[in-house]
Amino acid sequence: MPLPDSFIQELKMRADIVDVVSDYVHFNRSGRNLVCLCPFHSEKTPSFRIYPETGSFYCFGCGAGGEVITFIRKIENLDYIEAVKLLADRVGLPMPENSYDDGIAKLRTRIFEANREAARFFYAQLYSEVGKSALNYLRNRGLSEHTIKHFGLGYSPNNRYALVDYLKSKGFNDHEIVSANLAYQNKNGKISDRFYDRVMFPIIDLRGNVIAFGGRIMGDAKPKYLNTSDTLVFKKSDNIFSLNFAKNSDKKHLILAEGYMDVIALHQAGFTEAVATLGTALTSEQAMLMKRYVDELVVCYDADEAGQKAAQRAIGLLRQAGINIKILTVPDGKDPDEFIKKHGENGAARFKQLLENSGNDVEYRLQKIKQTCDMNSPSDRVKYLTEAAKLLATLDSKIEQEVYALKLSEEVNVQKEIVIQQVNKLSRRKNNEYQKRQFREIQDNMSARSDKINPQKSGKLRAAKAEEAIIAYLVYNPDMVRIITEMLPPEKIITDFNRRVYVCITTRLLNGLGAMPIDIASEFSPDENASIAAMLAIYQREAATIEAAEEYIKTILSENDKLNMSNNEKTKQEDILEYMKKLKEIKK
Ligand code: UTP
Ligand code: MN
Repeated sequence: MPLPDSFIQELKMRADIVDVVSDYVHFNRSGRNLVCLCPFHSEKTPSFRIYPETGSFYCFGCGAGGEVITFIRKIENLDYIEAVKLLADRVGLPMPENSYDDGIAKLRTRIFEANREAARFFYAQLYSEVGKSALNYLRNRGLSEHTIKHFGLGYSPNNRYALVDYLKSKGFNDHEIVSANLAYQNKNGKISDRFYDRVMFPIIDLRGNVIAFGGRIMGDAKPKYLNTSDTLVFKKSDNIFSLNFAKNSDKKHLILAEGYMDVIALHQAGFTEAVATLGTALTSEQAMLMKRYVDELVVCYDADEAGQKAAQRAIGLLRQAGINIKILTVPDGKDPDEFIKKHGENGAARFKQLLENSGNDVEYRLQKIKQTCDMNSPSDRVKYLTEAAKLLATLDSKIEQEVYALKLSEEVNVQKEIVIQQVNKLSRRKNNEYQKRQFREIQDNMSARSDKINPQKSGKLRAAKAEEAIIAYLVYNPDMVRIITEMLPPEKIITDFNRRVYVCITTRLLNGLGAMPIDIASEFSPDENASIAAMLAIYQREAATIEAAEEYIKTILSENDKLNMSNNEKTKQEDILEYMKKLKEIKK
């Protein structure tokens, strides 16, 4: 059900794109537009722009674009109506009635509700007769009542229908319960609980919704932890456990641990800045998400080989996202939870020491290289120096490079200048390669993306570009709509996608309605909205005057003529062939 235009107008006035985006990124002004690092991909030079005039944004690096609703859809992973609702709540605008009829949005809401009920149920079970052993288990692991309550921990009873029956009594149907991944369908068609006889850890998003669960078995059976699979409201690789709490910590850093229990033990010990991924390798989405809150991350992975490998990988991703990294190594092969528990009363103080002594990632990585070298052997010292120089060349900060070059030169006993020279040579090469690659990627991405949305564009490039320029001109100069449509009726637009956009915009304008990106957003998919934002970004200056617009229109019309001519010629040829065929038949 489309939202009334008056509502969108009100939203447009109140939900200013600059205000909204600034909740998620820091930016600098560049002329009349705003520029910043893109929140949708990792980059070192800012290519994300906000255009207050049209209420749109566009990233020249990854092609993300649109208006404020599309921005919220992308960054909060919501559908159109949900994003509108979030914005409306933010500015205190009531949603119009009946606007929540959309099937998928409704199901998502039901999944949130089912998860919340499930969390309540699990928590209640923990304090009932059946939950005794689970409660003991948690207490034995050192958790206080307060911690259990704070994290909303629970217990899923050893009965395949406990939760299903409960949720049904609360009015949820099979489809909703299965869609939340709280149950699965049996062979006999009945649904039964996904989690049973496990200690339950709810996973809560940044807005306080319960989006998933992790469940730990209390014995040795496998899998040790069972997690909710991806659902309409949960994508494992995009979420961070406990970020809902950690984002409110007043620390300038986050501690990234590996497990649920590590995070919970750390919070109990006062380190409320602790978070974890959900049993998967860190992704760049997660890195970008943390970057929204802090500039520094303390990586605190298990000391085993798997943990150290994961740490190395995470460092690469975090660096790319522009996050400073420190490495905290817990001694004796323990994980943070075990470490804190082992030290009892002093656990928090001992961990604080580790935190204060945690080195930055460059030291950590140098250490790793050094471990493979015998520093008494000259050839190994050269190997160390070479590998270390390669590492320093990957650093963006000159000062950082200098500091480590000095340290390295003292360690291996060579002149600092020699180390620096080597590092500079390698970084220049790397930078050139990086810039070339980035440029190529942007070019490739841009044409691939626009091809996907407008597949005719590559074959009709001249016309398609002129069409895009005219669309931009109209958005910037809505008063000119009559003149433009007289010169350029919609049927003259050659590519289908651009014609759709042109028709949408001109129809609205001719009827006295707005045609800014936000006004037409509901008519297009997020990718299509990004394409429209790209047109506005690219042709902002080029399509500024009526003279320029006339040139573009001339181009489109002459491309039309060419097309008609070749069509006519084709028709002529077909006629001749047909005629000859007939002649042959007569002759026979
Ligand atoms: P670990 O095996 O290191 O467990 O897994 P842990 O966190 O120390 O757990 P405890 O202390 O034995 O209770 C680290 C994380 O990997 C994910 C979980 O998120 C876990 O916290 N994991 C692990 C799974 O998702 N499934 C598994 O079977 C095991
Ligand atoms: Mn553990």
